[in-house]
Amino acid sequence: MADPAFQQCLNPACAATYDVAQVLVACTRCGNLLDIRYDWGKLPTIKSLSYFEHRWSTKGVGVEGTLDFSGVWRFRELLPFYRREEEIVTIGEGRTVLQQADLLARQLNMNPGKLLLQYEGLNPSGSFKDNGMTAAFTHARMVGAKKVACASTGNTSASLAMFASLAQMRGIVFIGSGKIALGKLSQALDYGALTLQIRGDFDDCLRRIRQVAVDMPELGIYLMNSVNPFRLEGQKSIMYRILEAMDWQSPDWVIVPGGNLGNCSAFGKAFSELKELGLIKKIPRLAIVNASGANTLNELVSRRGLKWNGGAFDASLIQRHYAALDESNYRPHTVASAIEISRPVNLPKALRALEVMNGVTLEVTDDEILEHRAMVARWGFGCEPASAASVAGLHKLRESQTIGADETVVCILTGHELKDANATVKYHTGIDLSAAQELAPRSEPKGKLSNRPVVVDDDLKAIIAAMEGRG
Ligand code: F0G
Repeated sequence: MADPAFQQCLNPACAATYDVAQVLVACTRCGNLLDIRYDWGKLPTIKSLSYFEHRWSTKGVGVEGTLDFSGVWRFRELLPFYRREEEIVTIGEGRTVLQQADLLARQLNMNPGKLLLQYEGLNPSGSFKDNGMTAAFTHARMVGAKKVACASTGNTSASLAMFASLAQMRGIVFIGSGKIALGKLSQALDYGALTLQIRGDFDDCLRRIRQVAVDMPELGIYLMNSVNPFRLEGQKSIMYRILEAMDWQSPDWVIVPGGNLGNCSAFGKAFSELKELGLIKKIPRLAIVNASGANTLNELVSRRGLKWNGGAFDASLIQRHYAALDESNYRPHTVASAIEISRPVNLPKALRALEVMNGVTLEVTDDEILEHRAMVARWGFGCEPASAASVAGLHKLRESQTIGADETVVCILTGHELKDANATVKYHTGIDLSAAQELAPRSEPKGKLSNRPVVVDDDLKAIIAAMEGRG
């Protein structure tokens, strides 16, 4: 294995390694998630994070500056899995800002200068997902993928569709019934992805996409959900940009909404690597905020004491929880549709991130999410409902004195306000303008580029037929 980058099973008791050019979403030996790892000794040494400072001044839109223009790839030495720079698929993602929000801080009884918002809604497709997609598409190109697919609550599908069009690959997205915010759906259609609306929820869609992409390799589909470890490599850059904006000093806390738990996992990996490389002294604490109608992580961690435990976490706690969900036919439900997930695929990695970052979990109600979304709009700048879970979570952590008024806190605003304008209009007017639950068109669309969604039963044969245009 000559590459400095390789894939490795996250279970320390297994630790199987795989070539970086293999297409895998789980360890073939024990079934656990995979990490991208680096043999840092084989890579050029970076002595200090200030090494990255010149990149802002060299950014440009020409060939030379393209990688520095990206807020992900200007940190490319910290995600060096690619083999040739020409293979990198980038659209200028990650050019986001960290903004001091004193007016909002006052509402939460925090001292001026102490609350910062990392506005990932400023990405090209309007959410943090672009940070990860640029990395996963780079890997997809490296291995010659032609068809890429994901299950999504909306933002992943928007981002995938955008990058698929850019990379000239066939994009396929699975979305659940009546669960997707219109802004996100419109993006997937507009960017030209084949959009299958499966009669089920996100967890059903994810199960199906794994069947077609993982269990049926003959279909030649490259899986873009966050079980793809390359996605998380790109998402690490959100932490690099925060450090960059703070003169390479860590904040006291990072607060993030938790859905499929990819983002928080990437944050933990970013900080454990920076520490390993001797590039930071302090690791911030992490708070992961669930919606109370989709609270698997908080239930297992805060109420049942689940811990990473050096990799020997109690998997039976998770299995028992999922069995109980099945038995009661439980369906997650929250106004924050982006995080309406009850079987988060990155749960073990999130447990590890909680350990690395001395983290906590908590949950917030839909009312708290909606009120804090409106507060972010009025006193910060807007975000979609799921993103506001971070600010609602901060409010709770302030009330319980877990976070002090003078601690420096960064809340990640994961998605743009306009992604879910309906939630905003409904909050202010009481009127629900959301689309029909099912997307079957009532009349033939007439546009030259019209891209109709396909409604399909939660049935493998029907799904494959629809994917192959036989629906
Ligand atoms: N915030 C927004 C706006 C999201 O779209 C998501 C996830 C999250 C937070 C949670 O992040 O999954 O890394 O814990 N959306 C996924 C999707 C699931 O399909 O777009 P996570």
